[in-house]
Amino acid sequence: MEYPPLAELVKDKWPSDVLQRAKELQAEIGSIGAYSHSKGVPLIRKHVAEFIEERDGYPSDPEDIFLTGGASAGVSLLLNVLITPNETGILIPIPQYPLYTATLSQFNGIPIPYHLSESDGWSTSLAEIESALAEAAKKGVKPRALVVINPGNPTGALLDLTTMENVVRFCEQHSLVLLADEVYQTNLHSPQTHPFHSFKSVVRKINSPVPLISFHSISKGVKGECGRRGGYFECTNISEEVRAILYKMVSVTLCPPLSGQIGVDCMVRPPKEGEPSYPLYKKETETIHAALAQRTKLMADRLNLLPGVSCVNSPGALYLYPKIELPDKAVKAAEALGKSPDTLYALELLDETGICVVPGSGFGQKDGEHHYRLTCLCPGVEQYVSALEGFHRKFVEKYGGL
Ligand SMILES: Cc1ncc(COP(=O)(O)O)c(C=O)c1O
Repeated sequence: MEYPPLAELVKDKWPSDVLQRAKELQAEIGSIGAYSHSKGVPLIRKHVAEFIEERDGYPSDPEDIFLTGGASAGVSLLLNVLITPNETGILIPIPQYPLYTATLSQFNGIPIPYHLSESDGWSTSLAEIESALAEAAKKGVKPRALVVINPGNPTGALLDLTTMENVVRFCEQHSLVLLADEVYQTNLHSPQTHPFHSFKSVVRKINSPVPLISFHSISKGVKGECGRRGGYFECTNISEEVRAILYKMVSVTLCPPLSGQIGVDCMVRPPKEGEPSYPLYKKETETIHAALAQRTKLMADRLNLLPGVSCVNSPGALYLYPKIELPDKAVKAAEALGKSPDTLYALELLDETGICVVPGSGFGQKDGEHHYRLTCLCPGVEQYVSALEGFHRKFVEKYGGL
């Protein structure tokens, strides 16, 4: 797509389906240096709708699809549209991916945090969401939407069908828009026991009128092409009037990057059995999934053996979110430096080992608790989990033990 004459030069070397795909997109798009339709290239939106139909078993309309510069652009647009400054509350999970708190703060929305239950594998509880809502009502906050991240970041948790149905019914009862962040939908470590279900399929299955926006991205999965900025959102039960407003809003920024849109096309149309690229695609994909699952489990198992550390072995996404007990002296030392204890831990870990983790205070954690987020992507996990173990023991000892 960047250099069409290349197709001729490599025609005997590259798989024919790759060239065929590029030519098809080329015929539709022309130069990828030009703007596209503001909602994204129509043919690519059609392919997204076909992908969703195949995934869920329910119809999807390309007109309900907006291609975006990554999921973040979609989330930001929707929060912008939903929020009346200093009035609107948005229910968000804690811990959460900081895009939500940051964007809420940008648009002067009010976060209504609901806590995920670590002792129950970071599950989402309706009772917890209800009490968060009641708390917000007491403060005069007007709730407008509920955010769910499934599979979760930073927790890696996956929602089960019953919880999903309850969440949908809850949104119906309270007239909330459901914002489903499903960017990790293919990062599943044990799909037999922990499968992914999309909120779109649940909404359709129970025939719910709840307004739903579902986000997906090329940044995750096995490709992880996050720098290209590609993603989409699908509108379900959203009126034509609101979709027209969304269209007007996306028109302001003209169009999402074309290379990101092409990335979305590749994500939603992977090679099929019988096509020349399929064997390599299958091999690479399976290898990456297996490595992620194995690394995640290995790290969780090893971390759980450390004194003062507990770690839920996540069934999805790319992370672990261990809880660490820290010595009082470490907490005081952090206070003296004007840092949170988890930040002190993360900084010392970085200095000592070169391992970069994200302190839990960036995602949200209960008062008095300390966490950090670890990614399970890197090869050589055995080596770096040993370094983590060594560091943890030394840190605890340095600050007087637990
Ligand atoms: C839960 C979640 N949502 C959205 C995003 C942003 O994705 P994108 O790169 O598509 O903007 C991320 C990135 O890490 C994420 O973890």
